[in-house]
Amino acid sequence: MQTGEEEARALEQALGEAVVWHGAGAAFDIERWKGTDAAVHVIGGEGTADEGDGSVAAMLAARLDAARLEVWGALPGLCTADPDLVPSARLLRHLGYADALALAVAGVSDLAPAALSTARAARLPIRFRSTARPEAEGTTVSHAAPDVGVGVLALIMQPETTLVTVAAPEHAPSARFLAEVFAAFARHGLAATLSVQAGAHIALVCDAGAYGEVAGALLADLGALGEVVVRDGCATVRLVGRRLDAGLPDVAAAVDVLDGHPVHLVGRSDGGLAVVVDAGQAERVTRELHAALFGAVSEGAVFGPTLGDVMGRSEQVPGRGVWWRERRGDLLALAERGTPRYAYDAATMRSAARTLLALEPVDRVLYALKANPHPGVLRVLRDAGVAFECVSLAEVERVFDLFPDHAPERVLFTPNFAPRAEYERAFALGVTVTVDNAFVLDAWPDVFAGRTAFVRVDPGEGRGHHAHVRTAGTRSKFGVGGDGVEAVAARAADLGLRVVGLHAHLGSGITDTATWAETADALAGYLPLFPDVRVLDLGGGLGVPTLPTEPVFDVAAAAEPLAAFKAAHPGLALWLEPGRFLVAEAGVLLARVTQLKEKAGVRFVGVDAGMNALVRPTLYGAYHEIVNLSRLDAEPAWTAEVVGPICESGDVLGHARRLPVTAEGDVVLVATAGAYGRAMASTYNLRPLPEEVVLERVDY
Ligand code: LLP
Repeated sequence: MQTGEEEARALEQALGEAVVWHGAGAAFDIERWKGTDAAVHVIGGEGTADEGDGSVAAMLAARLDAARLEVWGALPGLCTADPDLVPSARLLRHLGYADALALAVAGVSDLAPAALSTARAARLPIRFRSTARPEAEGTTVSHAAPDVGVGVLALIMQPETTLVTVAAPEHAPSARFLAEVFAAFARHGLAATLSVQAGAHIALVCDAGAYGEVAGALLADLGALGEVVVRDGCATVRLVGRRLDAGLPDVAAAVDVLDGHPVHLVGRSDGGLAVVVDAGQAERVTRELHAALFGAVSEGAVFGPTLGDVMGRSEQVPGRGVWWRERRGDLLALAERGTPRYAYDAATMRSAARTLLALEPVDRVLYALKANPHPGVLRVLRDAGVAFECVSLAEVERVFDLFPDHAPERVLFTPNFAPRAEYERAFALGVTVTVDNAFVLDAWPDVFAGRTAFVRVDPGEGRGHHAHVRTAGTRSKFGVGGDGVEAVAARAADLGLRVVGLHAHLGSGITDTATWAETADALAGYLPLFPDVRVLDLGGGLGVPTLPTEPVFDVAAAAEPLAAFKAAHPGLALWLEPGRFLVAEAGVLLARVTQLKEKAGVRFVGVDAGMNALVRPTLYGAYHEIVNLSRLDAEPAWTAEVVGPICESGDVLGHARRLPVTAEGDVVLVATAGAYGRAMASTYNLRPLPEEVVLERVDY
């Protein structure tokens, strides 16, 4: 392994040009390079740390009157978004200094704003290049950049921000009030990355970590000025652009995307626009904004190829969803029987089930069959040793229709706002019923008296891939809130209802592995109220990767702290009730290309499955990998919107997808579609529901 300095010298040798290593104490022989008209290269930059911001290199290059400043980093240049977050992010080919500076100020370049200013003053061209792809063209910054008018150049996400709002005691805040608010921030050394004043309120956004360090003292100061409200768990998405102070022509598209996402603040920032959203929504908002703002962009003087193309990156999503590559022949044959059609791989489901069943601290795994109630799927999972969690009587009945001998106690019924009759029937069938709120006990005491049941508690904070699927927290309709648990316990005791389990489900598509241990701790806090509780059901929600850059969900990391919990609570059994984790990656949707077209520079690939067959992209902006199965090994040649046949503009399965040259009749595969795919399909536009099939084969 070379040190940075050695790497710099090796590069110097190979290039015959000056190379500066960012690292501390690096020597640079300025005399050697004087008057050579070589480029100065700078490597090892991490951002804007004193030693790593390229300022020294920029000054040296300026002093040497170098031909260029070359900045080497991991990415092959500046991009329209972080490609780890947005697979279709594009390279920015050629920018002027002002635009590059706006990006640097927003924190996207390996070069600090000061270095850019130095280069600009010296009219020194800069090239951003990748050590991993030295042959790639990179981004050039120079005075000769093409002028392509006003517009957004890049999206930047700041993942952890805190929003502090101070309300002035008077109706209209005085200049003095505003000055004092800012002075309080300054006193504590806290920088606001965005501030918006409207009416009596001033809202300031700051880095969550920096805020955390001074929160106590800051809040004491601010509290003396007015009423303070703090919103943690935010993220800021910034639209940074070219001459955006002249207006925001793309703002309408952006506002459209924000529809449906809770937005906490919108403001101007760095000549662009900044939007503060829930941290859990930020990645999705960024992806959707990118699709809206850059989906129609084609390669030209400013916007280059997608980063996937430049880096030769795999577009493959990691995890269990690889089976379909091996079974391509079978799937193509299956598509001959008609499309759209879902196919589920039994071995992949079994493998997911085995992974969870093997977790030492987990005593029971229940399949949330709402994710995919196909009989073949239920059979595979039941045979693998998984119990069931149902949310409607129809789901309960499906279990017993399929498996008449199924032990009722291995079925958990977790209804929400279901009618009385469903509870009566569920008790009659002997399944375990979960009480979601006090209403059912107050309104239907006879249904619950003398029974045993679980109680669903809302631990106060939901999690998940989209606001629609966060099933805890004050705005969600699920569970007994913390302040209501005591009353439910008392009511249950009155009715002689034995509460034997506590249940919580925070949401769906959760990637934070600490979630289930935190849920266990939260539920354990209520144990003193329920002496008969023997089970804590920690819910489902385990995420699966859907993006090529997303890591596989670390099940072991989620389970590990549960072992410690079990050790501290030896009498308790822990249950998990995932849906997605068990079936998502096992399922693919097969569709056939119907029509192709191009309009205003946007290419559309039409397929015979749309939001009727798979609504997740439309409803949640969910990302599903899409490939042309007929030409799986062909090089990508097109960037296209993959759309269905439904009469709504939201009928898009994938934005800006890289596909090979595609023809009518090709089979397209939509991956990671086994959960909430066919289960949420509809006959909208009177299109028939997709067929389904479970593929059996020998296990891996
Ligand atoms: N338990 C309860 C009480 C639930 O409400 C759910 C899902 C689960 C377990 C299973 O969650 P999972 O492990 O599958 O994340 N249609 C959305 C997902 C909605 C999930 C609703 N509840 C989607 O397509 O992402």
